[in-house]
Amino acid sequence: MAEQLRVGVIGAGRWAASAHLPGFARTPYAKVVAICDQNRELAETRAKQFDIADVYTDAGELLARGDIDVIDVCTRGSSDDRDNHEKLAFAALEAGKHCLCEKPVAHDYRNTWKAHALAQSKGLKTKVGLTFRYAPAMMYMRALINDGFIGTPFIFNGFEQNSQFISSEIPVTKMDLIPENPLADIKVSSLEGYGAPIIDLSMWFMDSTIKSVVGVLRNFVPYRTTVDGRKVRTNIDDGDIYIGEYENGAICSIQSSYVTVGNYPGLEARAYGSNGALICRLVEEFGVPQTLHQAKPDAVEFVPVEIPAEYFPPGYTPGESWPSLFYANLVHNFMEEIVNGGEENQGNFAQSARVQEIINAVEKSYRERRWIDLPLDEPAAH
Ligand SMILES: NC(=O)c1ccc[n+]([C@@H]2O[C@H](COP(=O)([O-])OP(=O)(O)OC[C@H]3O[C@@H](n4cnc5c(N)ncnc54)[C@H](O)[C@@H]3O)[C@@H](O)[C@H]2O)c1
Repeated sequence: MAEQLRVGVIGAGRWAASAHLPGFARTPYAKVVAICDQNRELAETRAKQFDIADVYTDAGELLARGDIDVIDVCTRGSSDDRDNHEKLAFAALEAGKHCLCEKPVAHDYRNTWKAHALAQSKGLKTKVGLTFRYAPAMMYMRALINDGFIGTPFIFNGFEQNSQFISSEIPVTKMDLIPENPLADIKVSSLEGYGAPIIDLSMWFMDSTIKSVVGVLRNFVPYRTTVDGRKVRTNIDDGDIYIGEYENGAICSIQSSYVTVGNYPGLEARAYGSNGALICRLVEEFGVPQTLHQAKPDAVEFVPVEIPAEYFPPGYTPGESWPSLFYANLVHNFMEEIVNGGEENQGNFAQSARVQEIINAVEKSYRERRWIDLPLDEPAAH
């Protein structure tokens, strides 16, 4: 029997139910022993649904338990509790637990670096909900790039977009879509909420970090409806584009949006190099959640690539929908990294800090209408 890590989950909402908890149920390396939500009824429902022994409403009580190895932060911040993930992630690490945290860990990249440094000082591993690097098609794309399929990286084009909030009538379930001060300058939203995973992939596939960006944020749907039926001004970025230059000479364009017509999750990653090109789409269409295509200089018509079975998570069933398929890989990978020991720890808080620094730089570029160089300034701890 494989070593089983004991897991406590904080946040029992929609994403916990559709992605995190099903993922933990599938990996042989984990057992969720406790769940916490400020809403007791919700926590109890999930406990029944996923056979979890203990229920809490106070995260502090769960964190005080000595018999838990891993904490999963799957809460959602609100306008009066914006730093919700950050507080819980720091508390989990302080308590000596490995930590999986939904994105963003912190809105300011410097605090994500601090959390990373804390984890390192305690020998703990971290992982961020950068879901799409765990899609089997994206994992295989990375393996092909490792094997030299594209040669020297030239250009990356990335999209993370769908039409979730195109209608002003659709009730806003994401409270962070309602700015505290609607008359203030546009608030970063899609760039952080949707953009993070494709920004992560852009660095992973181009094998480099970003040194300079210029970008634009736009609000296309100015009024939205709250869950209790009020119409409110929502001056948020619901569409954005930036271009960037990598340290290694490659360049990229990245677009994220809540209001561009198309299905979930809505990612496209195009990597072009001296020796070939790969295009991965994660857009669920007619029951197919992922496709990968390749072309070569002497065979320029893109052809589909079959994804080998080893890139699929335990318990995979053909036709499975993307949230459980991709997240099962993420959770299983994190549990393996902890159980195996060693240095391996992909998509951790350090990577999340690099992603967040780009988000912060694009926002600065838009507000100051100019190119911004990275690093922004010396972070407290690298
Ligand atoms: N990585 C991805 O692809 C992806 C996809 C969807 C959602 N998410 C993220 O997952 C997180 C959860 O999203 P959701 O849709 O499940 O939200 P949700 O609103 O349905 O659920 C969040 C739950 O967290 C609870 N909560 C908040 N603060 C708490 C605290 N301090 N202690 C205990 N419970 C607390 C709330 O009561 C709520 O039940 C969000 O950060 C969201 O951005 C990520």
